[in-house]
Amino acid sequence: MEPKNLSLFLAILAMLLALVVVNGDESVKPLVKTVKGKKVCTKGWECKVWSAYCCNQTISDYFQSYQFENLFSKRNSPVAHAVGFWDYHSFITASADYQHLGFGTTGEKLTGMKEVAAFLGHVGSKTSCGYGVATGGPLAWGLCYNKEMSPSKTYCDDYYKLTYPCTPGVSYHGRGALPLYWNYNYGETGDALKVDLLNHPEYVEQNATLAFQAAIWRWMTPAKKHQPSAHDVFVGNWKPTKNDTLSKRAPGFGSTMNVLYGEQVCGQGDSESMNNIVSHYLYYLDLMGVGREEAGPREVLSCAEQKPFNPSSDSASS
Ligand SMILES: *[C@@H]1O[C@H](CO)[C@@H](O)[C@H](O)[C@H]1NC(C)=O
Ligand SMILES: *[C@@H]1O[C@H](CO)[C@@H](O)[C@H](O)[C@H]1NC(C)=O
Ligand SMILES: *[C@@H]1O[C@H](CO)[C@@H](O)[C@H](O)[C@H]1NC(C)=O
Repeated sequence: MEPKNLSLFLAILAMLLALVVVNGDESVKPLVKTVKGKKVCTKGWECKVWSAYCCNQTISDYFQSYQFENLFSKRNSPVAHAVGFWDYHSFITASADYQHLGFGTTGEKLTGMKEVAAFLGHVGSKTSCGYGVATGGPLAWGLCYNKEMSPSKTYCDDYYKLTYPCTPGVSYHGRGALPLYWNYNYGETGDALKVDLLNHPEYVEQNATLAFQAAIWRWMTPAKKHQPSAHDVFVGNWKPTKNDTLSKRAPGFGSTMNVLYGEQVCGQGDSESMNNIVSHYLYYLDLMGVGREEAGPREVLSCAEQKPFNPSSDSASS
C-alpha cells in the first residue's frame, strides 16, 4: 500500500474503532412518560412494556456476555452434557419477558445484580456436574446439564389426570435451567408460557430461551395464592407475618430456597444440598464483581432452621 493510502486506511480504521467503542459504551436510553403522576418507561427490546422498572438499568447494562462466560466457564467443555446449548443471548432474551415486572430491575443496580446472581446461583447449582475433584473447582460447572440423564421413571402423577393428563409415551423427567419434573409442573408452566409442554416436554431441552423462560417464570411466580415468589422474598416485596417469623422465614436468599424447594432443602440444618446452592450464589457474586460480603449474614443466606412455606403433608403429592 502507498504511504498516503495507508494513513487514510489507518484513519478510517481508527474512526471505525471509535464508533464501536462508543456504541459498546452507550446503553439504550429509556423512553419516558408519566401516567397518573407516575414515571414509566420502556427501554428497547429488553424492557418493552411501559413500567417503572424499565426506567432503571436493565440486566444487559450490568451483566454482560463475558460475565456469563465466567460464571459458566466449563459448560462447553467436552465432558459437559449440554455442549453448545446454553448461551448468554438466550438468558437475556428470556429475561426480557420479566424485566418490566422487576426481574433484575427492582431497586438499585446492586439489588438487580444480586438478584441475577441469586437466580443464576439456583440455576448453576441445579445444572452442575462439578464434583469435588472437577477441574476449575466444583462451582465452575453450572449449566453442564439441560436434562436428567438417566430417568428412572416418567414422573406421571395420576392425581392430576383431569387437569394435566399425561400424554402416553411422554416422559416428564427433569429438564431445563431450574429443572421441571412431573406432568403438573410441565402443564402449569406450559399454560403460563403458552407452549404445549404437556404434550411436548422435550421442547425445554431443545430451546435454551424457553428453558430460561420457564425458570424465570418459576422465580417470579408464587407456588400458591397469597404466598410470595422467590423474587418477592429476595428483593423485599414480601413482609413476613408473625407466623413467618415464628417459622424463621425472613426476607433474603434463604427464603428463595424455601419458596422453590421447601423441605427438600430447608429446615434440615446445614445440609449439603442447601450449602451447595448458597455456595453457587456467593461464587457468582464474587465473579460479577459484587463480592460475597454483599450477601449479608448467615441468617439471611440460610434456610437451615426454616419451616417450609408448603409442608408436603399439605399438598397432594410431591
Ligand atoms: C429504580 O432505581 C432507583 C435508584 O436506583 C430506585 O430507588 C427505584 O426503587 C428503582 N425503581 C423500581 C421500580 O424499583
Ligand atoms: C424457542 O423459544 C422461544 C421462547 O418461547 C420462542 O420464541 C422461539 O421461537 C423458540 N425457538 C424455536 C427454534 O422453536
Ligand atoms: C401458621 O403456621 C402454622 C404451622 O406452620 C399453620 O398451620 C397455620 O395455618 C399458619 N397460620 C396462618 C394464619 O397462616
